[in-house]
Amino acid sequence: MYNKNMLTPRLNCIVNYVNSSETTADIGTDHAYVPIELINSGRAKRVIASDIKPGPLKIAKSHIEKRGLSDRIETRLGSGLSVLAPGEADYIIIAGMGGELICDILKENTETARLSRLVIQPMNGQYELRRYLIENGFTIEREDIENEAHRVYNFIIAKNGRSEEFDNDIDYHLPPYLYSHPKFPLLFDKKRREFKKIINGLERADICDGKRLNYYRECLVKTEEIRNAL
Ligand SMILES: C[S@@+](CC[C@H](N)C(=O)[O-])C[C@H]1O[C@@H](n2cnc3c(N)ncnc32)[C@H](O)[C@@H]1O
Repeated sequence: MYNKNMLTPRLNCIVNYVNSSETTADIGTDHAYVPIELINSGRAKRVIASDIKPGPLKIAKSHIEKRGLSDRIETRLGSGLSVLAPGEADYIIIAGMGGELICDILKENTETARLSRLVIQPMNGQYELRRYLIENGFTIEREDIENEAHRVYNFIIAKNGRSEEFDNDIDYHLPPYLYSHPKFPLLFDKKRREFKKIINGLERADICDGKRLNYYRECLVKTEEIRNAL
């Protein structure tokens, strides 16, 4: 049975980005903890909780029913934003998925995505996601970092609008607007570990992808330059 204490810092962060919402959509809801807390906290009047798989949606439904919230949280089975009519939700949450999958979801129904504020929490592929948003007419209003022990998460709040492209490729990995974030050192260490791991893997591969190896070596050098400049 759901209770508020089950909300992890990551899920709490997601909930806190929604304010005075008429209708929020939680795409890939799984357990529906976020929709339940959005209603209980009064942050959203109504929530559409969707998932591509019947199994998670069944669990979501049972959590919602046990809380007596079926009149405020509607479950929908389907892929990405296809479950929404354009403009139906003032906020769209897409959390706990890979960045490339999130990009695909946005690409498939871009016009629907443009009509809502997007609360995005990618588990990986943040580079691809920032590039997609910035190069495709979305503006990143805000980005945050949160951690649960050693796990570091990024939260991206975006909406329709033009953005200046970053000057340097490394900025899509480590955006300059995050340098002053109190948890930036955690993100910095995570990225450095990631680059080192990729480089080690490429160096050990039977057939080495030299172009990729040079790219990630360059990323590592730039990362050290950022630290030295801070
Ligand atoms: C790891 S769970 C994340 C659950 C929750 N959003 C969170 O952040 O804790 C990912 C969920 O997304 C669902 N999912 C994956 N691809 C999807 C898609 N294209 N459209 C809707 N849901 C999707 C999966 O079935 C799964 O329930």
